[in-house]
Amino acid sequence: MIVRITGTGSMLPAKQVTNLEISQIVDTSDEWIRERTGIGARYLSTGETVASLATGACEKALEMAGRTAEEVDLILVASCSSEMLLPCSACQVQANIGARRAVAFDLNAACSGFMFALNTAYAYLQAGIYKTALIAGSEVLSKIMDWEDRGTCVLFGDGAGAVVLEADASTNAGRGLIGFVQYSDGSKGEALVCESRALHNPYYSEESKNTYVQMDGREIFKFAARQVPVTIEEVLQKTAIPKEEISYFVLHQANARIIEAIAKRLDMGLEKFPLNLDQVGNMSSASLPVLLDKLQREGRLDRGMKLVLSGFGAGLTYGACVLEW
Ligand code: UT7
Repeated sequence: MIVRITGTGSMLPAKQVTNLEISQIVDTSDEWIRERTGIGARYLSTGETVASLATGACEKALEMAGRTAEEVDLILVASCSSEMLLPCSACQVQANIGARRAVAFDLNAACSGFMFALNTAYAYLQAGIYKTALIAGSEVLSKIMDWEDRGTCVLFGDGAGAVVLEADASTNAGRGLIGFVQYSDGSKGEALVCESRALHNPYYSEESKNTYVQMDGREIFKFAARQVPVTIEEVLQKTAIPKEEISYFVLHQANARIIEAIAKRLDMGLEKFPLNLDQVGNMSSASLPVLLDKLQREGRLDRGMKLVLSGFGAGLTYGACVLEW
């Protein structure tokens, strides 16, 4: 069974905030943020939610795929910043778009969330269990940022991206998603944390907690620069595709310097590593699908092109897949 992406969509909040504007909130500068990260601006929610952004992205992806919401069997929303603990964002999306037949649930693997959700849906479709899936990465990270911590709040942005993934038995389907690898290393989890609310029940009360993102940026940087190239080499070897055949390496947009380091280690030209963090910052699970949608809508993806997607982040989690567009 061929399983391929047939539509992409994205939705960003209405408000874009430049580095200059951020420098009026915390002690930073446009120069520092650009030089150290490649980020020039990001979108921040002024009321948009994980569910509303995911809904917008999913509607656009369905439209591109030429599918109706009623044809969707499975909805997965990857997020680490949902405003609702219950119900999950995927169920809210299901209700918003009217995908009555779909089963819907969320998946949290931080910045690798979209990648892992895509692989999960692929496995369902490959097994013949479902035929049409909607997969979104959606974040309102500004809600979990400490706006007094310049080491984190300047990096992240809000937004959502989505794809339609379909099982296709036709002869001209191409190869679609060819293979993936994915890993977790919980022993290094403390490098990037965000605690939930403190426990208070009739029998136990915790101290109040820091419920904002706390990050060891250097540790994450080293991990990504070292591990992502190895993971990409592994998925290429597993799928027997030479790296020279890859048109684009679509990587999680955490930091332009991380992406440069990965390109160097893979010995591939930077022109094969598209960037959008200049405009949107790091959107965690939304990074990959928003960039994919941008490439598609700019006409840069042709049928038959081979792509590598790779995500990495808190957990620690990381993975990569190879697909033919
Ligand atoms: O999606 C995955 C999630 N996270 C990541 O991918 C993050 C990966 N890590 C990074 O991108 C980088 O480590 C950062 C961009 C977070 C930091 O860059 P760095 O080059 O590793 O800087 P640093 O943490 O070593 O800090 C260097 C200096 C420090 O000052 P001193 O101690 O040298 O005086 C920081 O206090 O830069 C200072 N600094 C800032 N200065 C201006 C830290 N943040 C800022 C800031 N503006 N926003």
